[in-house]
Amino acid sequence: MGIQETIGTPGTAGATRLVLLGSGELGREVALEAMRLGAEVVAVDRYAGAPAMQVAHRFHVVDMTDPAALRAVLEEERGRPCAALHVVPEIEAIATEVLVELEADGLLVTPTARAARLTMDREGIRRLAAEELGLLTSPYRFCESAEEVDAAVAALGVPCVVKPVMSSSGKGQSVVRSADGGRAAWDYAQEGSRTSIARVIVEGFVEFDYEITLLTVRHAGGTSFCAPIGHVQEDGDYRESWQPQPMSDAAAARAEEVARAVTEALGGHGLFGVELFVVGDDVLFSEVSPRPHDTGMVTMATQALSEFGLHARAILGLPVPAGRVPLRAPGASAVVLGSDTVEAPVFAGVAAALATDDRIDLRLFGKPESRPGRRLGVALATGPDADAARTLARDAAAHVRVEAGLR
Ligand SMILES: Nc1ncnc2c1ncn2[C@@H]1O[C@H](COP(=O)(O)OP(=O)(O)O)[C@@H](O)[C@H]1O
Ligand SMILES: [Mg+2]
Repeated sequence: MGIQETIGTPGTAGATRLVLLGSGELGREVALEAMRLGAEVVAVDRYAGAPAMQVAHRFHVVDMTDPAALRAVLEEERGRPCAALHVVPEIEAIATEVLVELEADGLLVTPTARAARLTMDREGIRRLAAEELGLLTSPYRFCESAEEVDAAVAALGVPCVVKPVMSSSGKGQSVVRSADGGRAAWDYAQEGSRTSIARVIVEGFVEFDYEITLLTVRHAGGTSFCAPIGHVQEDGDYRESWQPQPMSDAAAARAEEVARAVTEALGGHGLFGVELFVVGDDVLFSEVSPRPHDTGMVTMATQALSEFGLHARAILGLPVPAGRVPLRAPGASAVVLGSDTVEAPVFAGVAAALATDDRIDLRLFGKPESRPGRRLGVALATGPDADAARTLARDAAAHVRVEAGLR
């Protein structure tokens, strides 16, 4: 994983191949950045027509939670001649035990198979951060029944947050506000869980001043940090993000210490999204993605090298700006969500959105189906400061409407 000496031609034995496990909007941007650097990109996801598949050299439609199916695809890709092969997980829901086994057998996994494994459920990463690294987190308990949740709610006090250990984007997550709310939260978590494993985390509710994502890059030249990204979440999913989030010097320094400790423990090379809660000058670790983060889409507007470009460079062993990644301009992102279940959605208002201001840009992800609350696009803006950019991005996103499809 040292400095990349050569990059060959895609589709030939000299190729540097990235196999993306997960082909959503974040994967699509990673694919594009890697391809700009000459890499061959293979996109994998469970459905055909996923955003990254639309731009990749090749693709596979596979259930990546099925160990045998995942292994078969990775063995096939390993069997094709190339100069270097990187497996790049872009989502959590992967049979990570297969990655661990194949890594032991020489496969390169970004950033490491262990990082993918520990972050695929809330327990692995929480125990690492709180119990091994001694970092400040919300108080928490893991539970396997409604009765255990009741006991945890009694011990931690209300409000508290209940989440399936395996879930993302707020699925199955709810806030318990009264002492008898444990059962309803347990039931809701079972519906939202990715697996049949009936296990949840109950966390004390943190009354944070604000929350950030600290994008942290581990690369051949060391560790670099992007300017902190502030964001707002609704129903457990992000709606708006902006960069930079103003922070006290003490909180900013602590945030970098926490991010360095967590990413060092996970190891490897790549970009990480470290989610932190800030209370005064205190910083609590929440969770981490060992890959680009949805709130980090704002960096497509704010940085010369977006989080996706940084990830691609780190994976390929290419140089990344040392220390702090420069900010080109303050900026913001605002999501475009689906409201109905619609095949082949059609977008209206795109011209109007872009016409709101010269500093607006838009990404539509090309997802083949719209569903209520599904992220289908994002408006990006720069501005004189993050607040002004937020207003611009929000206004632009509000112009985009998802209409019934043509199919
Ligand atoms: N313990 C907590 N206290 C306060 N807010 C929380 C807590 N846990 C989660 N949240 C809120 O819910 C959002 C989503 O939770 P998170 O644990 O990041 O789940 P996901 O894996 O779905 O992103 C967080 O960004 C934060 O706004
Ligand atoms: Mg999160």
